[in-house]
Amino acid sequence: MVVVYFLFVLLALASSCAFASDPSPLQDFCVAVNDPNSAVFVNGKFCKDPKLAMADDFFFTKFRYPGNTSNQLGSKVTTAFVDQFPGLNTLGIAMARLDFAPYGLNPPHIHPRGTEMLAVMEGTLRVGFVTSNQLNNTLFTKVLTKGDVFVFPQGLIHFQLNIGQTNALAFAFLSSQNPGLITIANSVFASNPPINVDVLTKAFQVDNKLINYLQEQNWFDNH
Ligand SMILES: *[C@@H]1O[C@H](CO)[C@@H](O)[C@H](O)[C@H]1NC(C)=O
Ligand SMILES: *[C@@H]1O[C@H](CO)[C@@H](O)[C@H](O)[C@H]1NC(C)=O
Repeated sequence: MVVVYFLFVLLALASSCAFASDPSPLQDFCVAVNDPNSAVFVNGKFCKDPKLAMADDFFFTKFRYPGNTSNQLGSKVTTAFVDQFPGLNTLGIAMARLDFAPYGLNPPHIHPRGTEMLAVMEGTLRVGFVTSNQLNNTLFTKVLTKGDVFVFPQGLIHFQLNIGQTNALAFAFLSSQNPGLITIANSVFASNPPINVDVLTKAFQVDNKLINYLQEQNWFDNH
Protein backbone atom coordinates (compact mmCIF):
# COMPACT_ATOMS: atom_id res chain seq x y z
CA MET A 1 0.00 0.00 0.00
CA VAL A 2 2.79 2.40 0.94
CA VAL A 3 4.64 1.50 -2.27
CA VAL A 4 1.55 2.17 -4.39
CA TYR A 5 1.05 5.53 -2.67
CA PHE A 6 4.71 6.41 -3.23
CA LEU A 7 4.46 5.54 -6.93
CA PHE A 8 1.32 7.67 -7.21
CA VAL A 9 3.11 10.66 -5.69
CA LEU A 10 6.08 10.12 -8.02
CA LEU A 11 3.79 10.00 -11.06
CA ALA A 12 1.97 13.13 -9.96
CA LEU A 13 5.29 14.94 -9.52
CA ALA A 14 6.57 13.76 -12.89
CA SER A 15 3.46 14.92 -14.73
CA SER A 16 3.54 18.33 -13.08
CA CYS A 17 7.21 18.91 -13.97
CA ALA A 18 7.34 17.48 -17.49
CA PHE A 19 6.42 20.61 -19.47
CA ALA A 20 9.18 23.19 -19.28
CA SER A 21 8.22 24.97 -22.50
CA ASP A 22 5.15 26.05 -24.42
CA PRO A 23 3.79 23.64 -27.00
CA SER A 24 5.07 24.48 -30.48
CA PRO A 25 2.57 26.32 -32.68
CA LEU A 26 4.11 24.41 -35.67
CA GLN A 27 3.53 27.33 -38.04
CA ASP A 28 3.91 31.09 -38.16
CA PHE A 29 0.25 31.73 -37.42
CA CYS A 30 -3.14 30.06 -37.60
CA VAL A 31 -5.97 32.46 -38.37
CA ALA A 32 -9.17 30.87 -37.10
CA VAL A 33 -12.05 30.46 -39.54
CA ASN A 34 -15.63 29.92 -38.50
CA ASP A 35 -16.26 27.37 -41.23
CA PRO A 36 -16.89 23.72 -40.35
CA ASN A 37 -16.06 22.71 -43.93
CA SER A 38 -12.59 24.21 -43.73
CA ALA A 39 -9.91 21.53 -44.01
CA VAL A 40 -7.71 20.66 -41.04
CA PHE A 41 -4.08 21.38 -41.79
CA VAL A 42 -0.98 20.30 -39.90
CA ASN A 43 1.76 22.70 -40.93
CA GLY A 44 -0.44 23.55 -43.87
CA LYS A 45 -0.15 19.94 -45.06
CA PHE A 46 -2.68 17.16 -45.49
CA CYS A 47 -1.55 13.70 -44.39
CA LYS A 48 -1.05 10.91 -46.87
CA ASP A 49 -3.12 7.79 -46.21
CA PRO A 50 -0.69 5.75 -44.04
CA LYS A 51 -1.47 2.63 -46.08
CA LEU A 52 0.00 4.34 -49.14
CA ALA A 53 3.24 5.43 -47.44
CA MET A 54 6.50 3.88 -48.64
CA ALA A 55 10.20 3.87 -47.81
CA ASP A 56 10.86 6.74 -50.23
CA ASP A 57 8.67 9.01 -48.06
CA PHE A 58 11.29 8.63 -45.30
CA PHE A 59 14.37 8.94 -47.51
CA PHE A 60 16.29 12.15 -48.31
CA THR A 61 19.23 12.46 -50.70
CA LYS A 62 19.85 16.21 -50.99
CA PHE A 63 22.71 16.09 -48.46
CA ARG A 64 24.84 13.99 -50.84
CA TYR A 65 26.37 16.97 -52.60
CA PRO A 66 27.97 20.15 -51.19
CA GLY A 67 25.85 23.30 -51.39
CA ASN A 68 26.99 26.03 -53.79
CA THR A 69 28.86 28.59 -51.69
CA SER A 70 29.67 30.94 -54.63
CA ASN A 71 27.70 33.86 -53.22
CA GLN A 72 28.34 37.03 -51.20
CA LEU A 73 28.09 35.17 -47.87
CA GLY A 74 30.25 32.21 -48.88
CA SER A 75 27.82 29.75 -47.36
CA LYS A 76 24.91 27.56 -48.35
CA VAL A 77 22.37 25.87 -46.09
CA THR A 78 20.52 22.89 -47.50
CA THR A 79 17.47 22.21 -45.36
CA ALA A 80 15.64 18.98 -44.65
CA PHE A 81 12.61 20.68 -43.11
CA VAL A 82 9.07 19.44 -43.68
CA ASP A 83 8.74 21.51 -46.88
CA GLN A 84 11.67 19.63 -48.45
CA PHE A 85 11.08 16.34 -46.66
CA PRO A 86 7.34 15.62 -46.32
CA GLY A 87 7.96 12.47 -44.27
CA LEU A 88 8.93 14.70 -41.32
CA ASN A 89 5.39 16.01 -40.93
CA THR A 90 4.23 15.79 -37.29
CA LEU A 91 7.53 14.17 -36.20
CA GLY A 92 9.00 17.29 -34.59
CA ILE A 93 12.51 17.01 -36.04
CA ALA A 94 14.52 18.45 -38.94
CA MET A 95 18.09 18.76 -40.25
CA ALA A 96 20.27 21.02 -42.33
CA ARG A 97 23.56 20.64 -44.17
CA LEU A 98 25.79 23.73 -43.90
CA ASP A 99 28.58 24.31 -46.40
CA PHE A 100 31.08 27.14 -45.97
CA ALA A 101 33.73 28.52 -48.32
CA PRO A 102 36.84 29.85 -46.53
CA TYR A 103 35.64 32.74 -44.28
CA GLY A 104 32.04 32.06 -45.30
CA LEU A 105 29.29 33.22 -42.94
CA ASN A 106 25.85 31.94 -42.03
CA PRO A 107 24.60 35.35 -40.88
CA PRO A 108 22.74 36.11 -37.62
CA HIS A 109 19.33 34.45 -37.72
CA ILE A 110 16.60 32.91 -35.56
CA HIS A 111 14.64 29.69 -35.68
CA PRO A 112 11.43 30.75 -33.95
CA ARG A 113 10.23 27.20 -33.32
CA GLY A 114 13.34 25.04 -32.92
CA THR A 115 16.39 24.50 -30.76
CA GLU A 116 19.41 23.60 -32.92
CA MET A 117 22.37 21.32 -32.33
CA LEU A 118 25.30 21.84 -34.71
CA ALA A 119 27.97 19.19 -35.33
CA VAL A 120 31.11 20.15 -37.26
CA MET A 121 32.38 17.56 -39.78
CA GLU A 122 35.18 19.56 -41.45
CA GLY A 123 36.89 22.89 -40.82
CA THR A 124 36.80 25.46 -38.03
CA LEU A 125 33.73 27.54 -37.17
CA ARG A 126 33.30 30.51 -34.83
CA VAL A 127 29.71 30.14 -33.59
CA GLY A 128 27.61 32.02 -31.08
CA PHE A 129 24.20 33.02 -29.82
CA VAL A 130 22.93 36.01 -27.84
CA THR A 131 20.56 35.69 -24.89
CA SER A 132 17.33 37.67 -24.63
CA ASN A 133 17.11 41.10 -22.99
CA GLN A 134 16.08 39.45 -19.71
CA LEU A 135 19.53 37.85 -19.57
CA ASN A 136 21.25 41.08 -20.63
CA ASN A 137 21.92 40.15 -24.29
CA THR A 138 24.90 38.02 -23.33
CA LEU A 139 26.96 36.52 -26.17
CA PHE A 140 27.93 32.86 -25.79
CA THR A 141 30.56 31.98 -28.38
CA LYS A 142 33.01 29.16 -29.17
CA VAL A 143 35.41 28.00 -31.84
CA LEU A 144 34.41 24.53 -33.05
CA THR A 145 36.54 22.02 -34.90
CA LYS A 146 35.80 18.59 -36.35
CA GLY A 147 33.66 16.52 -33.99
CA ASP A 148 32.55 19.46 -31.82
CA VAL A 149 28.90 20.17 -31.09
CA PHE A 150 27.19 23.41 -30.02
CA VAL A 151 23.57 24.08 -29.13
CA PHE A 152 21.57 27.19 -30.04
CA PRO A 153 18.49 27.51 -27.82
CA GLN A 154 15.15 28.06 -29.54
CA GLY A 155 14.38 31.60 -30.67
CA LEU A 156 17.80 33.15 -29.96
CA ILE A 157 19.90 35.01 -32.54
CA HIS A 158 22.85 32.87 -33.64
CA PHE A 159 25.52 32.66 -36.37
CA GLN A 160 28.35 30.51 -37.74
CA LEU A 161 31.52 31.89 -39.35
CA ASN A 162 34.19 29.79 -41.05
CA ILE A 163 37.46 31.14 -39.61
CA GLY A 164 39.64 28.66 -41.48
CA GLN A 165 41.34 28.85 -44.88
CA THR A 166 39.58 25.67 -45.99
CA ASN A 167 35.96 24.77 -46.66
CA ALA A 168 33.89 23.81 -43.65
CA LEU A 169 31.00 21.37 -43.33
CA ALA A 170 28.50 21.01 -40.50
CA PHE A 171 25.15 19.33 -39.91
CA ALA A 172 22.37 20.85 -37.82
CA PHE A 173 19.58 19.00 -36.03
CA LEU A 174 16.47 20.95 -35.06
CA SER A 175 13.69 20.17 -32.61
CA SER A 176 10.83 20.96 -34.99
CA GLN A 177 9.80 19.75 -38.43
CA ASN A 178 9.19 23.42 -39.29
CA PRO A 179 11.73 25.40 -37.23
CA GLY A 180 11.27 28.54 -39.33
CA LEU A 181 13.96 31.01 -40.32
CA ILE A 182 14.28 34.74 -39.67
CA THR A 183 17.49 36.20 -41.10
CA ILE A 184 17.94 39.41 -39.12
CA ALA A 185 19.27 41.68 -41.87
CA ASN A 186 16.80 40.39 -44.46
CA SER A 187 13.82 40.81 -42.12
CA VAL A 188 14.80 44.27 -40.94
CA PHE A 189 16.24 45.83 -44.13
CA ALA A 190 14.58 43.88 -46.92
CA SER A 191 11.00 43.42 -45.77
CA ASN A 192 8.31 43.78 -48.38
CA PRO A 193 7.06 46.48 -48.26
CA PRO A 194 10.02 48.16 -46.51
CA ILE A 195 9.76 49.14 -42.85
CA ASN A 196 9.25 52.91 -42.60
CA VAL A 197 12.62 54.72 -42.50
CA ASP A 198 11.55 56.69 -39.40
CA VAL A 199 11.15 53.42 -37.52
CA LEU A 200 14.63 52.21 -38.45
CA THR A 201 16.47 55.53 -37.97
CA LYS A 202 15.08 55.79 -34.44
CA ALA A 203 15.58 52.11 -33.66
CA PHE A 204 19.23 52.07 -34.75
CA GLN A 205 19.99 55.72 -33.85
CA VAL A 206 21.50 56.51 -37.25
CA ASP A 207 20.57 58.94 -40.02
CA ASN A 208 18.22 58.05 -42.83
CA LYS A 209 21.01 57.95 -45.46
CA LEU A 210 22.45 54.91 -43.75
CA ILE A 211 19.03 53.26 -43.51
CA ASN A 212 18.35 53.99 -47.19
CA TYR A 213 21.73 52.52 -48.06
CA LEU A 214 21.01 49.37 -46.07
CA GLN A 215 17.55 49.02 -47.58
CA GLU A 216 19.03 49.23 -51.09
CA GLN A 217 21.43 46.32 -50.55
CA ASN A 218 20.80 42.89 -52.02
CA TRP A 219 20.27 40.80 -48.87
CA PHE A 220 21.06 37.30 -50.03
CA ASP A 221 19.22 34.34 -48.53
CA ASN A 222 21.72 31.47 -48.32
CA HIS A 223 19.01 28.81 -47.94
C1 LIG B 1 27.14 28.28 -58.14
O1 LIG B 1 26.47 29.51 -58.10
C2 LIG B 1 27.02 30.49 -58.98
C3 LIG B 1 26.31 31.81 -58.72
O2 LIG B 1 24.91 31.65 -58.81
C4 LIG B 1 26.89 30.01 -60.40
O3 LIG B 1 27.46 30.96 -61.29
C5 LIG B 1 27.62 28.67 -60.55
O4 LIG B 1 27.40 28.15 -61.84
C6 LIG B 1 27.11 27.67 -59.52
N1 LIG B 1 27.94 26.49 -59.57
C7 LIG B 1 27.44 25.26 -59.68
C8 LIG B 1 28.43 24.14 -59.67
O5 LIG B 1 26.24 25.07 -59.78
C1 LIG C 1 21.69 41.86 -15.82
O1 LIG C 1 22.14 43.16 -15.50
C2 LIG C 1 21.59 43.66 -14.29
C3 LIG C 1 22.01 45.11 -14.12
O2 LIG C 1 23.40 45.24 -14.27
C4 LIG C 1 22.04 42.77 -13.13
O3 LIG C 1 21.46 43.21 -11.93
C5 LIG C 1 21.58 41.33 -13.40
O4 LIG C 1 22.07 40.47 -12.40
C6 LIG C 1 22.07 40.85 -14.76
N1 LIG C 1 21.49 39.56 -15.07
C7 LIG C 1 22.19 38.57 -15.59
C8 LIG C 1 21.44 37.30 -15.83
O5 LIG C 1 23.38 38.67 -15.86
